[in-house]
Amino acid sequence: MLIELVIFLSAFKRAYDIRACGLRIFLILKNYYRTFSALLRWRRIPVLKGLIPDDKISDIKNSADIIEIISESVLLKKGGRNFLGLCPFHSEKTPSFTVSPDKQIFKCFGCGEGGNVFTFIMKQEGISFPEAARMLANRYGIEIPTQSMTPDQKKRMTEREDLFSINSRAMNYFHYNLTKNAAGGKAKAYLAGRGLTEDMINGFKLGFALDGWDNLVNTLKHKKVSLKLAEKAGIIIEKERGYYDRFRNRIIFPIFDAGMQVTGFGGRVLDDSLPKYLNSPETPVYNKSRSLYGLHRSRQKCRDTGIVYIVEGYMDYLSLCRYGIDNTVATLGTALTPDHVRSLRGYSGETLKAVLVYDSDEAGIKAAQRSIGVFQAGHIDDFILVLPSGYDPDSYLVKFGQESFLKEAAGAKSGFRFLIESAIKKHTLSFEGKPRVIEEMLDPLSSITDSVKRAICIKELSEQTGVEERAISEKARQFSASKASGYRNQAVSHHPRTDPGRGRQAYSGRWNKMEKQIITMMLQYPDILKEIETKNVLDRFEESTMKAVGELLIRKKSNAADVSDLLSWAEDPEQRQIIAELAIGEEVWDHEGCLGLIKQFLSSRRRSETALLSAIKKAEENDDQELLIKLLNEKQTQARGLETENQDSAGGESL
Ligand code: UTP
Ligand code: MN
Repeated sequence: MLIELVIFLSAFKRAYDIRACGLRIFLILKNYYRTFSALLRWRRIPVLKGLIPDDKISDIKNSADIIEIISESVLLKKGGRNFLGLCPFHSEKTPSFTVSPDKQIFKCFGCGEGGNVFTFIMKQEGISFPEAARMLANRYGIEIPTQSMTPDQKKRMTEREDLFSINSRAMNYFHYNLTKNAAGGKAKAYLAGRGLTEDMINGFKLGFALDGWDNLVNTLKHKKVSLKLAEKAGIIIEKERGYYDRFRNRIIFPIFDAGMQVTGFGGRVLDDSLPKYLNSPETPVYNKSRSLYGLHRSRQKCRDTGIVYIVEGYMDYLSLCRYGIDNTVATLGTALTPDHVRSLRGYSGETLKAVLVYDSDEAGIKAAQRSIGVFQAGHIDDFILVLPSGYDPDSYLVKFGQESFLKEAAGAKSGFRFLIESAIKKHTLSFEGKPRVIEEMLDPLSSITDSVKRAICIKELSEQTGVEERAISEKARQFSASKASGYRNQAVSHHPRTDPGRGRQAYSGRWNKMEKQIITMMLQYPDILKEIETKNVLDRFEESTMKAVGELLIRKKSNAADVSDLLSWAEDPEQRQIIAELAIGEEVWDHEGCLGLIKQFLSSRRRSETALLSAIKKAEENDDQELLIKLLNEKQTQARGLETENQDSAGGESL
């Protein structure tokens, strides 16, 4: 305020210059506006945080180990004091996803994503902070009071939990019908006939939906479960006269997510009637293009073996398990999606071989064509295993056993090789056939982004067809170019995040080097916080975000809060990014070095302030109004430490 007055008066001194005076008033108002809107932004933080009491947040944080939580979806390897893995938030080949057990934070140096255990869950599940907190609280048996929430917030937050709980009730009900209810006898017999043991039935919580329209509806009513919610969970259907059961007279296969919660169901008829399988519809907790049946149980085996078998159905999956081939998952009536591949990759590790098991050439070709790009983008090597005609994985195992299956699997061809051979079978290698084979392989080729792999595939195609590699390369290049221009014409603007990392890295490069170093020091060597405070170091900061992080550190660290706490407190994503990135390093700090850094920083700031002062003086002497106002404004922002842009255009340049 005082500074403003002085500056205003200095402009007023030359009141004859109306223009300067007006400009001055404008600048003052602008600054007030800035401060005011910053204040408004600040106000929102406690309001948002207030939903869940702080002590609960720290209870959760103390119970939830970030390594344990992240390990459920990412294979982590120890490297130094931190753990490293492949980032679950973007596609990468070499691990740049770092997790610190000491600090309980994660940071991906590839895409910039970073945070604590809450942020991780939020990002992975696509849910809000309160939802993530509640999810973790549930898991660790921590009660969170809900009275501080509006009914709307409460509703949204608890809906997912309610759906999981309704699904779990329904699962238990179906399971009871199968195992304890006499009416489930025929279903039991059917499963026994298909070779499923009691252990498996119990392990996978298989069940039976009784014949009739309202068995489940009545049970839910009796238990006072909201039918509206049960309808949302997809287990009952609403019609004009009321609700009826979706699954009737069917064997029930519950579908679990990685946290062992029931997301949905599949139901198979006991005879040849149609449809053979009925599945849960998409619900807030069930998404079939993200779910893989059996992943919750198989992921450890996939890690251990480096191989995952992908089959098409519930029964095939159970059959492979029964024959001791546990590194298996099943898709649920959809083609493989990038989400599937990403989660497989997260659960496995750097070298994962996916073997898609199909029951016919035709199904295999379709799947190979569709999924080759998906696997390539996810850096997974894909293989296709087509079983002898007339067999699916289940019936093959029943007939020939595990050893034969594994032998067939060992001979599975790469997806690309499989497509070449299929194309040759279709078109032959005649004079007219060859170009058609090449033509057909151009699309799969274009989806292989790794240049080495692409070269290997071109070589293979050349060897198989006798067409020169150079000619194939040229064709492939033309094809990719026309495909790219086709994409451009379609204006695929609904995918703005092609490279999530780029924008952020540009940000971190923009951060002022010395300020960044000081914040790093504050994060990694908290003993220095007192010194920073007494020397008012932060007041000299030019970048508002850095300064805000520093202030947060001083405010919170005095209550011995740790880095992970700070991440919960920093609402601004850029602040969180700074904290995660700068805290995760492993530098060694000593007190002397820290004091040196502070000294160096302060003297460099003083130098630039002196430079600015002398520039102001000079401008006054020369009566250069325009420059003077510019410099005074500069001075003002410098004094406030608010300047965020054009820091180099200050006094220095105009000297
Ligand atoms: P299949 O028809 O190959 O059945 O469907 P299956 O797995 O061999 O089953 P069994 O051996 O006859 O019992 C494969 C998968 O496709 C989906 C299911 O997920 C099934 O497991 N599917 C199939 C449906 O969703 N609806 C259907 O009507 C049929
Ligand atoms: Mn089958």
